[in-house]
Amino acid sequence: MDSLLFFSSFLIVILLAISLQILFFSPISPDILEIPSASKTFTTSITSNNYLQRVSKLGEGFLDRPEDVAVDKMGVVYTATRDGWIKRKHKNGTWESWKYIGGDSLLGLTVSSTGDIIVCDTQEGLLKVSEDGASVLASHVDDEKIRFADDVVEASDGNLYFSVASTKFGFLEWYLDVLEAKPHGQLLKYDPSLNQTSVLLDNLAFANGVALSADQDYLVVCESWKFRCLKYWLTDEIKGQTDIFIDNLPGAPDNIKLAQDGSFWIALLQLTAPGLNFIHKSRSSKHLLATFPKLMNWVIGVHHQAMVVNVAADGKITKGFDDSTGKVMSFVTSVLEYEDHLYLGSLHCDFIGKLPLTTSTV
Ligand SMILES: *[C@@H]1O[C@H](CO)[C@@H](O)[C@H](O)[C@H]1NC(C)=O
Ligand SMILES: *[C@@H]1O[C@H](CO)[C@@H](O)[C@H](O)[C@H]1NC(C)=O
Repeated sequence: MDSLLFFSSFLIVILLAISLQILFFSPISPDILEIPSASKTFTTSITSNNYLQRVSKLGEGFLDRPEDVAVDKMGVVYTATRDGWIKRKHKNGTWESWKYIGGDSLLGLTVSSTGDIIVCDTQEGLLKVSEDGASVLASHVDDEKIRFADDVVEASDGNLYFSVASTKFGFLEWYLDVLEAKPHGQLLKYDPSLNQTSVLLDNLAFANGVALSADQDYLVVCESWKFRCLKYWLTDEIKGQTDIFIDNLPGAPDNIKLAQDGSFWIALLQLTAPGLNFIHKSRSSKHLLATFPKLMNWVIGVHHQAMVVNVAADGKITKGFDDSTGKVMSFVTSVLEYEDHLYLGSLHCDFIGKLPLTTSTV
């Protein structure tokens, strides 16, 4: 009996020590996160069609995890890869390593009206890349370093709107921001005529994709772990007002892009591996994961599938395509519609997926 008592006290002390250790070393102070339930997303969900398994692979083997895709007026396709390059595909189909920036931290990019490439660098801020090379447009806002610039769009007046996913965690620690579930994201504006950067919105839940509406009356900015995208009005009378554009998305929105017809394409991530959503409701599980990052690889769900949806300007999902098992594409982070095709970027693949939007699929 004595030895049993001794043993159980010993066990309790050990467990207590481990828990204290976890709490002490945990880099997060987590909140509970509500993942929209299947019943909530039911009306907006798409039925699985595995259409993304039918992509043709552009630049296969040449493109190391191309997160985003942009296309210029001449039809040249641009992307930024994990090996620090801006690469492009000419109309004749040949790929070129165009400009070397360095790092593994280049994310969203867009082509400016002057033909330059504007790219988000999670280390440096907002960059402009032209034939002459790269320069930093915005590295600080309100005297704070911009740490995790994520996606950018240019308005016709030349202003650049871009997101900061997290002011607390870096690109490689992005899942800690999800686990902490406290909003550290921002929507920023860079005004090139003043060379000035300002904060438009603060406290966003992992601000990710940014797009402009067809008439440029509003921006749409996506909050990944709130499974929603917001409208930020730019028109004079209601400038700065925000509304919900779409919520209860059947995945965490990544990049968003305007399509020809005024609708938007959004790439959706499965944040959590199947069956593990309970983790987001348990603070101790979150601390445990944050303390032992290796465990996180089991929990992160982005490699299990891929999904993209088209959302009309009224915020209704009209169609969607997926790869339900991630067989061909997973971790699809962006979707660009161009000349009746979709171009799909991914933080997992070594190519850009290209899909025809034929009448049989729409
Ligand atoms: C394709 O076009 C680019 C740019 O115009 C050119 O530099 C390249 O040599 C062309 N490649 C082929 C195979 O024609
Ligand atoms: C813009 O401002 C930054 C500092 O805020 C400065 O380093 C940079 O040289 C300026 N760029 C131009 C083109 O004036």
